[in-house]
Amino acid sequence: MTQAKKLIEVAMPIKEISAESVRDKSIRHGHISTLHLWWARRPLPVCRAVVFASLVPDPLDPNCPTAFKEAVQLLLGRANNPGDPYKPYDDIPYTAVIDPMEDNGRNRLMMYIGKFSDTFIKNEHLGKKTSAKENLSFASLIKWDNKNDERIIGIARKLIWVAHNSASGKSAKGMIADFDSHYEAIKDAEQDLYSTPDRHISSDAIIAKENKLNEAIEAFLNKMPKVFDPFAGGGAIPLEAARLGCRSYGNDINPVAHIIQKGSLEFPQKYGKPITYSIKEFAKQYGEEELNKVPVDWKVFTGNSQWTSVNVPNRLAFDVEFYAKKLLKETEKEIGNLYPVDSKGNKPIAYYWSKIGVCSNPSCKAEVPMLRGFYLCNKSNKKIFLKPIINGTKIEFEIESGSTNEPGWMERANLKCPCCGNITEAKLLKNQFKKELPKQKLLAVIYDGRDGKEYRKPTPNESKIIEREVNVERSDELMPQGDSQNIKIPLWGYKRWMDMFSDRQLNCIQTFIYKLNDFKKEVLVKDEYSKCILTYLAIWIDRIIPVNTSFGRWNVPGEKIETPFSRQAIPMVFDYPESNPFCESTGSAINQLDWLIRYINSESVVEFYSICNNASSGDKSQFKEKYLTSVITDPPYYDAIAYADLSDFFYVWHKQSLGDIYPLNYATPQTPKSEECTAIKYHHQNNLNNAKKHFEGKLLSILDAIEHQTSDIVSIMFAHQSTEAWTTLCNSILGARMNITGSWAIDTEMGARMLAMGNAALSSSVTVSCRPAQRKGFGDYREVRKAIEKTVTIQVDELYRLGFRGADLLTACFGQAVSEFGQYEKVEKADGSEVTVAELLEIARESAFNALLKGFDGDDFTKFYIGWLQLYGFTESEFDDAAKFSRVGLSINVQELFTEHILIKNGNKQTLGGFQERLKANKNIGERANNLLIDQVHRAMALYKGTNRNALLQYIDKVASSPESSFWRVVTSLCEVLPAGSEDLIQATGVLSNKDSLIRDSKTVITTSSEQTRLFE
Ligand SMILES: C[S@@+](CC[C@H](N)C(=O)[O-])C[C@H]1O[C@@H](n2cnc3c(N)ncnc32)[C@H](O)[C@@H]1O
Repeated sequence: MTQAKKLIEVAMPIKEISAESVRDKSIRHGHISTLHLWWARRPLPVCRAVVFASLVPDPLDPNCPTAFKEAVQLLLGRANNPGDPYKPYDDIPYTAVIDPMEDNGRNRLMMYIGKFSDTFIKNEHLGKKTSAKENLSFASLIKWDNKNDERIIGIARKLIWVAHNSASGKSAKGMIADFDSHYEAIKDAEQDLYSTPDRHISSDAIIAKENKLNEAIEAFLNKMPKVFDPFAGGGAIPLEAARLGCRSYGNDINPVAHIIQKGSLEFPQKYGKPITYSIKEFAKQYGEEELNKVPVDWKVFTGNSQWTSVNVPNRLAFDVEFYAKKLLKETEKEIGNLYPVDSKGNKPIAYYWSKIGVCSNPSCKAEVPMLRGFYLCNKSNKKIFLKPIINGTKIEFEIESGSTNEPGWMERANLKCPCCGNITEAKLLKNQFKKELPKQKLLAVIYDGRDGKEYRKPTPNESKIIEREVNVERSDELMPQGDSQNIKIPLWGYKRWMDMFSDRQLNCIQTFIYKLNDFKKEVLVKDEYSKCILTYLAIWIDRIIPVNTSFGRWNVPGEKIETPFSRQAIPMVFDYPESNPFCESTGSAINQLDWLIRYINSESVVEFYSICNNASSGDKSQFKEKYLTSVITDPPYYDAIAYADLSDFFYVWHKQSLGDIYPLNYATPQTPKSEECTAIKYHHQNNLNNAKKHFEGKLLSILDAIEHQTSDIVSIMFAHQSTEAWTTLCNSILGARMNITGSWAIDTEMGARMLAMGNAALSSSVTVSCRPAQRKGFGDYREVRKAIEKTVTIQVDELYRLGFRGADLLTACFGQAVSEFGQYEKVEKADGSEVTVAELLEIARESAFNALLKGFDGDDFTKFYIGWLQLYGFTESEFDDAAKFSRVGLSINVQELFTEHILIKNGNKQTLGGFQERLKANKNIGERANNLLIDQVHRAMALYKGTNRNALLQYIDKVASSPESSFWRVVTSLCEVLPAGSEDLIQATGVLSNKDSLIRDSKTVITTSSEQTRLFE
């Protein structure tokens, strides 16, 4: 039977997903990103939407199972949803025309995934900002606030269940009843197990209850799809797959990523559950002191008010907190004296240090703190700075309030000596550091005062502490020595990972780990659960380490510590903050613990955990042929992030904290590099070509295994949309015998006003859906070209109706074009040569361009203008591109584009002319008899921007007096594709939103010739 297309192959609410994804970046409490740093985590809304849309069919597809269509009606229809939250838009909010969205199953599914709230839509009309949490309607699947809402998440689970089991022939109601009984079995088994007192003590009865729960979960998962992410990284995709009730698998080659995955995708869901202790057992486990602290709402009383037991709502969160606090206490007991309190008993919260460069002037040799500036705090209402006091070659500082203009002493890594004015160049400084790592000077101590952070000079004791004998050993693991792109500090002599820490920092981290290792012997028994607690303690130490290096940054406006990783690399820094782990402020160990506990609590509600595997993907024996239902993944992109190299920062510590618990994962001296699917030049003897080949080969072989193991959709998120990225992606997908069936641009960087249409340049990331291909043999170039043109034309129409415009529409067409091409083993031209992917993309682009212009009747220059705007916006492009596109179905030549100032030359490149540039180049634009439509519109925009309304009305009367005139179609199209925030968009929107009054008033306007001549002078 022919399968129905999945929703992801035909439609996605990309604007809504983008909006919630932007919000996702600022969510902190309980968010996966707060458990442990991982580079380039995908926003959860994208992951949830892509998983869901990859698993459910398009209700409008002729092959869509009837039961699924019924289920959509039942679950998303008006009848069962008060207020009808999934009703399609009355007017699609991101288009410039009034266009109601048809009320059908597909659109209801889209609205369920994400729908803009009424408040948001109203504010957008008024040009007002909406608070991020109000962007989407309260009932949207991808909204952060709904991630644990059993009703809303339950709808997705039920729809997936019905879609997955539709071959059973049961009705939607029957299948939903089946779902309910399976899910209730889980809930009942949970209730039975979790309410049993002292379930931590194993017994036959407890084991039976545990087995019953596991069986109920298994029975449920057996009826749900199997979803795999071969590049799971920080775990966002498997987390969402499990949330939606799927059997979720995640692989990552990197042991650090694997530990993060266990902490985020496995342990909270498995162990973050309630437990009831008898008082005796609680006291035995945690001691009398802890028993005395039990909150009243955890206490269980018998009928005669006797306190009998303790209900701990989340065993895992409680244990992690308990043991972490114990570990902290013992560590502080040992090394707390290295962070002394002041005379009033205040604990510093951080220390501000600088590395010292020695002036290269032989007669000066001053030891100079390498400061880029002097502010410790620089806010509009609070300014505090270090005031240098220079005495010969002695440099001291006072701390003062107010402003300073004093330029920093470091400029582009060169040091200007404040004592003699000599410049010591970076090269010489590097040599100094390579000979011996630099001294450091404590410049300020930061503490919490009554009105926020306060700064004071260090006491002599505080300054000396770092020189005190502390018991540190530096292990020898080296950083990458020749990677000038990501980890540059070895060029400054910092060769070992351990060189990133001062003695006190190193001593602190080592003491935490040493105490953790003590716990392993004394406190915790070695079973699966205790392994899990120890893992969290190591993860907690991982949160303490990055705020305790000599490569962090003091955020001067924000008054907070930034880790060395703010830029997915480790850059050189000269001044840095060090946190006091034993204080109670941000950056402290206790504060870091809070992030962990919040995460555990926030994800413990979900019943389903992911199966995480620490291995290089691409092993065909990992899953049986076609075992997986779907693969959803986000592969690395060339050399964008050096995961293995960067994560060695944590790995070298994990070996000490977790090496014995996970011996296989930490068997190698550093993270595995050779199998990593990246193109890091440094791993390939600095040969870029070899590095690229390695990446492309690896991606291809991993996709090849996936094709073998997957029966349905493979959805791939790709971080870039350049032609090179598209070519790589298409080559790997087609090479792995799969075919692209859909593609969507999802912009997670959307700025200020969300809907301001027309993010005209291609958005940065693309999600592509693919299917294992059924190849038809060889294809003829002309036939395939025709098929592409036809498909793209249909798609443009369809997607346009759904509100897609500009670059988003183009991206969506790319996927459809590739799908025509990918049906063949190979496509050949008449001369027998093979059509390449690059050529195919060119055809796709041209067809989309053509299709976009087809419905648009106007002169060819205006068509070109609108088409080009969609492709490139106002960004620079190559001269050849103009020549190419002027040939596409238009009868203009490239030279004319320049004489008409449609394109403006810029050396070898060109940009599209905005209305102001064009009128500057020719002030008569729009006044000739053979007016181009774009000229008329640009002239009207210029008049609108001016203050002479009469002149504008006269002009409208002349060129656009009827609401149906082509002039208005061009203005509407412009409004939909002009880049957000551009002056052109502001003026075009102004003209369009005043359309009715302009036409009306233009009828009565009095023409005076003097006014007309004044217009553009
Ligand atoms: C773009 S990241 C994934 C990020 C993830 N989606 C998230 O939200 O955190 C790509 C991941 O692929 C992993 N990786 C690279 N090569 C691999 C391989 N050969 N097998 C498995 N994983 C690999 C990297 O370690 C990295 O974590």
